[in-house]
Amino acid sequence: MKAIEIRNKYLKFFENHGHKVIPSSPLIPENDPSVLFTTAGMQPLVPYLLGEKHPEGKRLTDYQKCLRTNDIDEVGDNRHLTYFEMLGNWSLGDYFKEESIQMSYDFLTKELGIPAEKISVTCFAGDEDCPRDELTASCWEKAGIPKDRIYFYGKDDNWWIAGEEGPCGPDTEMFYDTGKPKCSDNCQPSCDCGKYVEIWNNVFMEYYKKDGKYTKLEQKNVDTGLGLERMAMLLQGKQTPFDTELFSPVMERLQSLAKNDDIASRRIVAEHMRASMMIICDGGRPSNLDRGYILRRLIRRMTRHLNKLQIDLNELPNLIELNVETLKEMYPELESHKQEIKDVIVAEKDKFMKTLNNGEREFNKVINRLKNQGINKIDGKTIFNLYETYGFPPEVTKDLATENGFEVDLSEVDKLFKEHQEKSRMGSDQKFKGGLAEQNEKTIAYHTATHLLNAALKKVIGPSSHQRGSNITTERMRFDFNCDHKLTPEEKQAAEDLVNEWIKADLPVTVETMKKEDALKSGAECMFIEKYPDEVTVYTIGNVSKELCGGPHVKHTGELGHFKIVKEEASSQGVRRIKAILE
Ligand code: ALA
Repeated sequence: MKAIEIRNKYLKFFENHGHKVIPSSPLIPENDPSVLFTTAGMQPLVPYLLGEKHPEGKRLTDYQKCLRTNDIDEVGDNRHLTYFEMLGNWSLGDYFKEESIQMSYDFLTKELGIPAEKISVTCFAGDEDCPRDELTASCWEKAGIPKDRIYFYGKDDNWWIAGEEGPCGPDTEMFYDTGKPKCSDNCQPSCDCGKYVEIWNNVFMEYYKKDGKYTKLEQKNVDTGLGLERMAMLLQGKQTPFDTELFSPVMERLQSLAKNDDIASRRIVAEHMRASMMIICDGGRPSNLDRGYILRRLIRRMTRHLNKLQIDLNELPNLIELNVETLKEMYPELESHKQEIKDVIVAEKDKFMKTLNNGEREFNKVINRLKNQGINKIDGKTIFNLYETYGFPPEVTKDLATENGFEVDLSEVDKLFKEHQEKSRMGSDQKFKGGLAEQNEKTIAYHTATHLLNAALKKVIGPSSHQRGSNITTERMRFDFNCDHKLTPEEKQAAEDLVNEWIKADLPVTVETMKKEDALKSGAECMFIEKYPDEVTVYTIGNVSKELCGGPHVKHTGELGHFKIVKEEASSQGVRRIKAILE
């Protein structure tokens, strides 16, 4: 069964069961600066899960374009994808466990024709926050899944929430048995040996998590998600999503163009190209910030692997064209944005190639010098220097060195990169301290005010407003941000009022250390993500601001006093500057 048929069957099935089909939201959330991309079908529906009335009623279904970026570096294996489509159905305070489970069972067995023997399910085992979900298990038994294929697991496996705060609850997951032999006597759905593949997740959202505590929501919701690419792969008896019709035309073209048989590179190119196309189609553009940076990474990685496959980069527009042909039945919007998609990807590729070319010139100099010295080995320090000075990716250095008959010693590379990260972490702390001529109560307060002003401007001008620079003395703060117009008196007043409102609210300022990826995922703001090490500190002010930052900050916004904008002026093209004081 083709993916589009699965999608159509799904929407029709739930329509026949009283659900309204709603359109996919864009991949780039419209009114939610707290996340980079839409990562689940429920995300655009949060207000309705919390009780707001949805204009289409209490039963909804859709297909949702999703992007998850935690695993970018895993793409290339036989299963990871960044972009995927999630089929979902929702009960907003309407049906609950019994009906939801019966519908899932019927859809899988009757509509998709999956034999019931191939399905195992998991339920929540219970803990101090929520009891064991016996009801779900008995609903499965009633539907037709025998006890010995019903498993119970704890929060790690059978609890679902997007992030740290929000609607959540115990879930029940459905697994498809691929028929592979058990990897051990204890092989179960929770095992990742590949025998069991998760196909659908029904979340019984009746809780809300905040500050680590769970409270009951006003209404009991159901939120489900079924990964389309994976289902297509299983129903077609394929080993990877890349073997389905969603990827095979591009995979085959890449194979015929490539001068080698590197399958991981072909998958990376096909996957990243599709993901980039979907992001650009929904308005994303490459940059050094947040989601723009994710897009940049996707395009760079794709370009590098096209190089690895020794495919002429002038083929890119043709490959994009082929991908549009492949996907336009599912995403007609790709057709109307085709030129734009080509232009953005080709321009970004050109930019990246310049970096690569500069690096390559340097690389050749290094190689010649070593050759003259009779050395045929390239060490970690050289690889690292090429990266640090010319942005030349280590794996490219490695490949080129091998091609030139050099031995490559990678033993030190990791260590040097770690040291580098550590240095840049200290560097960014240091730079910050440098910006503060002296660190005292006043400058620390201005620093926190800077975060508040940044957040306020995002509300007043829009989420596209970002910090471009800042400078603090004991007397005043200066803040540069991108904005295409002179602020109106109303805008200035609104920003000032917001900051003062937040000061009055005496919001707590908290700090945590996390992985850069997680920080980005949580929607934390930062100026130049590339400058930060893998581990970063993130400062959160109430629920109004979250930024990567070296600190220090006040503990509560109430310590700031009264905030006043004293000047607003142009700084450079597209950048405005505000001077403000705390009195
Ligand atoms: N929101 C749930 C998920 O993403 C259905 O798995």
